[in-house]
Amino acid sequence: MILNENVDRKIIPVAGGKGGVGKSVIAVNLALSMSMYGKKTVLVDLDLGGSNLHTLLGLRNINPGIGNFVSGRNYSVNELVCPTDWENLYFIPGDVLVYGIGELTKSVKARIVKGLMDIDADYIIVDLGGGTNFTVVDFFLISNSGLIVTTPQTIAVMNAYSFLKNYVFRFLQRAFTSDKEITTYLKKVLKERRPGERKTVTDMIVDITEINPAAGEKAEAFLEVLQPKLILNKINGIEDVSLAEGLRDLCSQNLSINLECLGTVIHDEMVNRSINSQRPFILDNEEDIATEEIHRISQKIIQSSNFPEMPLELDYYADSFELAHIEMENDLASLQGIDETPESEGYDIDKLLELIRIQQSRIQELQSTLKVLSMNG
Ligand SMILES: Nc1ncnc2c1ncn2[C@@H]1O[C@H](COP(=O)(O)OP(=O)(O)O)[C@@H](O)[C@H]1O
Ligand SMILES: [Mg+2]
Repeated sequence: MILNENVDRKIIPVAGGKGGVGKSVIAVNLALSMSMYGKKTVLVDLDLGGSNLHTLLGLRNINPGIGNFVSGRNYSVNELVCPTDWENLYFIPGDVLVYGIGELTKSVKARIVKGLMDIDADYIIVDLGGGTNFTVVDFFLISNSGLIVTTPQTIAVMNAYSFLKNYVFRFLQRAFTSDKEITTYLKKVLKERRPGERKTVTDMIVDITEINPAAGEKAEAFLEVLQPKLILNKINGIEDVSLAEGLRDLCSQNLSINLECLGTVIHDEMVNRSINSQRPFILDNEEDIATEEIHRISQKIIQSSNFPEMPLELDYYADSFELAHIEMENDLASLQGIDETPESEGYDIDKLLELIRIQQSRIQELQSTLKVLSMNG
């Protein structure tokens, strides 16, 4: 397995389990932001079967992409890199020019991964498709610094959790390929997965330790390498961050991994408009909070020389989620500042009650999501 350590060039896959949570929007704007900070960034459309990144960049689909690479041997991945309208930002299209490339074989996946590793750039942002299947998970495992995007909706959070579960399982499977005993055990777990009585990764580590104590220790050490980062998108209020904290707790209890929060992006209709105009939203909405949030995430990555390890100032914050909380509070406060037009000053009491009611039902919704999540552990 190839991980990011000791490599200057960083491959950052973006996944999330569910479609429509904003993976592509975030991948495009994040990559553009990094290029604006002077980093040579290559954006890769690996959402095979649903490639659409070129439209978000306002590019015509005339260039060969990953689909051509897969269906013929005429290209190297490096040759697919094409320039964009913006300095330092490059793009590799997906499979829009090729009809139905189907399920990728192991060797094709390995060729793509090897090709990506050879690209010359500071950062390579890889937009993955939705779903929690092993093809997406395998691409996510290109690096240990993948980004998980989710919205605060119950289904999206559940999908993000399923994705992480498959990710950790697949990682263990790969880590122990040369260990027959453990491989047989993991196969058995996969085969016997039944709803209601699923083993958590934490249970599996107990089993593995019983089979072979040294393998158990190895598994624990391996899992420490995984450092996926969460981005919460389409946030409406501060209580949405609590949901992410629930996901973090579930990951540490059931999956034995430490999920950190890289940042939040608020829900803003301007994002939809930017899709229609086929321009990344950070270009024309410099003053918007969402733009500021994207730049903030991009700076967190660029400024961590050992990303995904993040140099958090732990004297100030308990963890990255507390920081996300504080950032979100500030974002919302400045948002309210902007909205304070003369008419909206002097809130009438009905408006206030309505707001409280919405917030309360939102909190109830969040609590039931957390409950569902812990039942599905
Ligand atoms: N922060 C946001 N605020 C409002 N709408 C958003 C936001 N992020 C994404 N969207 C909208 O959600 C839809 C899906 O986004 P997309 O990036 O294509 O999702 P995915 O790649 O996860 O399938 C788009 O219509 C986009 O405009
Ligand atoms: Mg997408």
